[in-house]
Amino acid sequence: MAAALPFAAAVNGALRRVPVWAVWLLALVPLGVLVGQAVSGNLGPDPVRTLERGIGRHALQLIVATLAVTPLRRFTGISLVRFRRALGLLAFLYVVVHLIVWVTLDLQFRWDEIAADLTRRPFIIVGMAGLVVMLPLAVTSNAASIRAMGAAAWRRLHRLTYVAGIAGALHFVLLSKVWAGDSLVYAGLIIALLAVRLIPEPGARRAPA
Ligand code: HEM
Repeated sequence: MAAALPFAAAVNGALRRVPVWAVWLLALVPLGVLVGQAVSGNLGPDPVRTLERGIGRHALQLIVATLAVTPLRRFTGISLVRFRRALGLLAFLYVVVHLIVWVTLDLQFRWDEIAADLTRRPFIIVGMAGLVVMLPLAVTSNAASIRAMGAAAWRRLHRLTYVAGIAGALHFVLLSKVWAGDSLVYAGLIIALLAVRLIPEPGARRAPA
């Protein structure tokens, strides 16, 4: 089993000393940098677009990181499980800020345009679907919800993370004008992270029918 590898054991030992708040702090640095650059006028010729896109990209990276936790543990033995809740909540936070930038700075509260985009532009509809499925995940990302729902139901609900990943990747692919570049890399990564979950674990018991 990969967990027995000395390298993985050493990494896990080091990771146990990393407090969860450090992950929050580290993951919030890019947001702070982007906001700082926006305020100081250092975001180039189209600052709103750069801010919006930068935040969206970090949101997607955090979704990828969240989805990578289980395969990483399974195939290398390295466990980031202790940080998974923080990663998911951080992804949600970035998506919410991304939406706020869109409403306030990009469309500047032009509600008719916002409504038109939300019903007519496929990449916006898909992005919104991603945000909507992340809502119940964020609200139930606490021990009290696991207790109240029961572990099995909670795990089932949290499979919505897969939907959020697909929606986020598709959103990026749809808004990219050319069918090349890193939107496809993110889509491939997310598909791979979901596909490896279909590989049966050696020795794992089949779920009762
Ligand atoms: C799971 C949710 C979402 C994720 C992961 C996400 C991620 C992204 C990414 C990766 C980009 C492109 C970044 C780049 O080009 O480097 C982007 C751009 C954008 N997103 Fe999202 N997004 C999400 C939800 C939303 C929502 C809810 C809205 C608004 C309703 C939205 C509006 C936009 C806009 C307007 C752009 C820029 C489009 C352009 O520059 O033409 N996104 N997003």
